Amino acid sequence: MKCRRCNRPAAINMRQHKLALCEEHYPEWFVSYTERAIRKYRMFGPEDRILVAVSGGKDSLSLWDVLLRLGYSADGMYIDLGIDGGFGYSRLSREKVEAFVAARPGVRLHVVDVAALYGATIPEVSARKMRGRGKPCAVCGLIKRHEMNRIAQEYGYTVLATGHNLDDEVAVLLSNLLHWQTGYLLRQAPVLVERDGMTRKVKPFCRSYEREVAAYALIQGIDYIYEECPYAVGNLTNFYKDMLARIETESPGAKLQFYQGFLRAREEGFFCGEAAEPPPMHPCSQCGQPTTVPGLCAFCRLWQ
Ligand code: AMP
Ligand code: FES
Ligand code: ZN
Ligand code: ZN
Repeated sequence: MKCRRCNRPAAINMRQHKLALCEEHYPEWFVSYTERAIRKYRMFGPEDRILVAVSGGKDSLSLWDVLLRLGYSADGMYIDLGIDGGFGYSRLSREKVEAFVAARPGVRLHVVDVAALYGATIPEVSARKMRGRGKPCAVCGLIKRHEMNRIAQEYGYTVLATGHNLDDEVAVLLSNLLHWQTGYLLRQAPVLVERDGMTRKVKPFCRSYEREVAAYALIQGIDYIYEECPYAVGNLTNFYKDMLARIETESPGAKLQFYQGFLRAREEGFFCGEAAEPPPMHPCSQCGQPTTVPGLCAFCRLWQ
């Protein structure tokens, strides 16, 4: 397989785009493909102050790298969840993020250490809340969302960017469709607009396949944590990802079509009705962040 641009051996063949590119031309293409997604979905502009939520994985670190390359003002934030999993998952991820920053002088990173700040790690607070039953993923998601928005608001960032890729998005889409979660379907978008007290959220890699992001990280020499969170192993999302990978093998481009077709259908009003109206928000009586029920938000109730 030869590179479309220069005829040298290709580093990646993307059947879904009918495009093969070499080590030199692939990163250029990937950066400009991301830029086109940012413009197409009107995610942000050069005047915005972006906060990239980085987990230490390939997606978020590659995203930060691409945004810096494109000249955007982009700082990072890492949440230390205190997850060990027998191999120091959070410690290792944090080291990857810190090494990324150390290699890029002038780049700013916010670190939120959950245990140091609130007195318990994610597995500890989850075990307390769930009385030792179940996985901590729901509690973890709640804490991550709260802390990302808190840092964005406190430091005046106008945009919060996450590394969700196309494979993540189609797995969630499939799950939402299987359960006909119309409220979630309405909110599953490349951009979630800002509201009172809530920073705009964007997913610039929403059209990029996981293997495209991995190829970018590899070619650019971005060192990331390969292991996923120990609590994610064998979860339903990974099962949906496996199913979608099989469909993609039989029908290249299926994931992209599935996702883009969904976005078009939503634009055309396919999912509408009562759920289209976001519920009114009230500031939490303790932390001030927006919440749907007056009084304490779910985050503050968790730590009570
Ligand atoms: P996940 O929910 O683990 O698939 O992660 C989705 C996105 O959330 C990542 O691409 C990051 O942008 C962000 N993220 C996940 N974990 C963390 C973390 N510990 N600190 C900061 N951002 C995170
Ligand atoms: Fe939060 Fe796995 S439980 S990342
Ligand atoms: Zn080439
Ligand atoms: Zn609160």
